[in-house]
Amino acid sequence: MRPINERTRDFCARFNLRIPILLAPMAGACPPSLTVAVANAGGLGACGALLMKPDEILAWGNEVRAGTNGAFQLNLWIPDPPPRRDPAHEARVRDFLAQWGPAVPPDAGDSTPPDFAAQCEALLAVGPPIVSSVMGLYPPAFVAKLKARGIAWFANVSTVAEARVAEAAGADVIVAQGMEAGGHRGCFDAAKAERELVGLFALLPAVVDAVTLPVVATGGVADGRGVAAALMLGASAVQIGTGFLRCPEAKLNAAWADALGKAAPEGTMLSRAFSGRAGRAIATDYARAAAAPDAPHPAPYPVQRALTAAMRTAAGKAGDVQRMQAWAGQSAALARAEPAAALAAHIWQEAQSLMG
Ligand SMILES: Cc1cc2nc3c(=O)[nH]c(=O)nc-3n(C[C@H](O)[C@H](O)[C@H](O)COP(=O)(O)O)c2cc1C
Repeated sequence: MRPINERTRDFCARFNLRIPILLAPMAGACPPSLTVAVANAGGLGACGALLMKPDEILAWGNEVRAGTNGAFQLNLWIPDPPPRRDPAHEARVRDFLAQWGPAVPPDAGDSTPPDFAAQCEALLAVGPPIVSSVMGLYPPAFVAKLKARGIAWFANVSTVAEARVAEAAGADVIVAQGMEAGGHRGCFDAAKAERELVGLFALLPAVVDAVTLPVVATGGVADGRGVAAALMLGASAVQIGTGFLRCPEAKLNAAWADALGKAAPEGTMLSRAFSGRAGRAIATDYARAAAAPDAPHPAPYPVQRALTAAMRTAAGKAGDVQRMQAWAGQSAALARAEPAAALAAHIWQEAQSLMG
């Protein structure tokens, strides 16, 4: 394995960074202000564009470029095949959800996410230095367009097998996501999310050994100790999600931000009850009740996301974290409520002093 300082130096030089700290793409939690702060500190900014329409993606890019010359990544989910609908089962889920929020209308599950192909075109129109994928791989034709424009492709993986497939498909960097990670697990096969739970300490060196590409570590890293450990295990850079969520520039709902600061690692859980896809969230009253044996199984993604929308909106307005989609990684309590630029610099200084 090459020495840490060579790996981080080459990574930073290639992607125009001053520090090997990446903001994680987080759908719904990546306002331009957070990217501007991290990019101005020399790290990499990020946008999880999953829920954004093309004009919103373009506006995000414009706002970021008005605030920084720094680098950033735009991220999309690779869509699953359309879900199999089961109206009788959805009715049971709607009844269950009515105990937690407003009544859910029968057609609530019909709403669909923004068009993926149009989002891909918007990514190209923004023209960021990096585009990333999660939940699978971009179609070869889109990969060819990225390469033709000199845009690097970062592929999020959660297993060694996924890392190998991503490298063969032309990814430029592998992002190894441990199961500690907050938010959705980036499994290519949604059905395997709970069975193939690999922690970052095991996943990272295995992925580093399996591919020749640079590897970024993500999942449960939120301070200098985690960054130093990830670099020791072979990463070239580290991507932090939950660790940035308490920064003022993240503009997170205050109840969620407060709960992050108090969440023990065992106080988070993997749940399909918000979207239908497995993701790690604070083990709130709703998340625990939805996992009880007598609760109806969540509907498939994205139907469950649509069914829970009314509850999530009401919870946000009420500041009630117990019904909120409060994504959180297992290191949530390490997240610090301080400005993001200072936090990024501080984490990197701490990591460097630990590494001598
Ligand atoms: C609120 C939230 C939203 C997320 N949304 C996305 C997303 O849209 N795309 C993606 O690739 N990963 C998403 N993730 C996962 C992160 O990119 C990253 O893997 C994770 O935050 C790393 O773990 P950590 O939270 O412990 O730092 C999300 C994570 C959080 C906390």
